[in-house]
Amino acid sequence: MKRISLTQYLVEEQRQHHSIPAELRLLIEVVGRACKTISHSVGKGALGEVLGALESENVQGEVQKKLDVISNEILLEANEWGGHLAAMASEEMEDIHPIPNRYPKGEYLLVFDPLDGSSNIDVNVSIGTIFSVLKAPEGMTEPTEKDFLQPGAKQVAAGYALYGPQTLLVLTTGNGVNCFTLDREMGSWVLTQRNMQIPAKTKEFAINASNQRHWHAPVQRYIGELLAGSTGPRGTDFNMRWIASMVADVHRILNRGGVFMYPADNKDPSKPGRLRLMYEANPMAFIVEQAGGMATDGKKRILDIQPEKLHQRVPVFLGSRDEVALVTSYHQEAV
Ligand code: F6P
Ligand code: MN
Repeated sequence: MKRISLTQYLVEEQRQHHSIPAELRLLIEVVGRACKTISHSVGKGALGEVLGALESENVQGEVQKKLDVISNEILLEANEWGGHLAAMASEEMEDIHPIPNRYPKGEYLLVFDPLDGSSNIDVNVSIGTIFSVLKAPEGMTEPTEKDFLQPGAKQVAAGYALYGPQTLLVLTTGNGVNCFTLDREMGSWVLTQRNMQIPAKTKEFAINASNQRHWHAPVQRYIGELLAGSTGPRGTDFNMRWIASMVADVHRILNRGGVFMYPADNKDPSKPGRLRLMYEANPMAFIVEQAGGMATDGKKRILDIQPEKLHQRVPVFLGSRDEVALVTSYHQEAV
């Protein structure tokens, strides 16, 4: 089999579709390189003394794991000096990180969740890195948080790395979704799946069912119907999976279909859902739509949401088109 590297893929995409200018290619390659380094640290586990929690909390009030902080540092350091970025923002940092003055500045903004699936870090279950790329607004001189607050539809690239039995990089630049596998011996990303497509129909769903008593009526209705199985209104049995790493759950859905949900609920009405719009929902929604799926906040398309804050949370329903459309219609009917 002829092996196509990430670099070759990016160069050929630019030649054919003009969708990946040189600076964006550099950015994607640098992020890919940082993900290899993170994969290496994750893989060392206890031997690298990288497991466990720190005493610090992140801006969300969550305890930071050592690997959260290590992954954040790896991404910052890798992306600072190349001249392709104006600023970065991370789930693990309260404020944006402008490129230091000693380096040239580029025209892109990079947003990331350095290590997604925190509860799985110390127990050797799949985790990942999620990233999203925006263009800096025209005429921007000193980047501020406001420059990042663009709807997800403006993303020029998004992707994730999955640190599982294999390390994978899934990428979209707005022309379909492709998957690369890390060749650990060669240290290179090799194209292994072209044009991933999410089946429109599915019999599998993913939700943290321990929150059931807190769910709003449309989610109760939808999940109730799925659980009723072959004797219920859907007339068929559904299966459930919940890894508690969004990257791993979304990757399964990209491959074999399914619907992933993290709704807002009554547990803490001050929080509109658990997942973050900029670091998790937007990049995943871009990838899912590019693979023929659908992504909403229950009522509207995630990619159309105008962000108000960097660390904003949002309800998420994404995956196979028919199911996301159905659960969204239940929310729309309820208003
Ligand atoms: O980053 C948030 C996250 O860890 C996601 O990766 C995952 O889907 C979700 O939270 C897990 O939530 P819970 O702890 O409720 O299962
Ligand atoms: Mn996360």
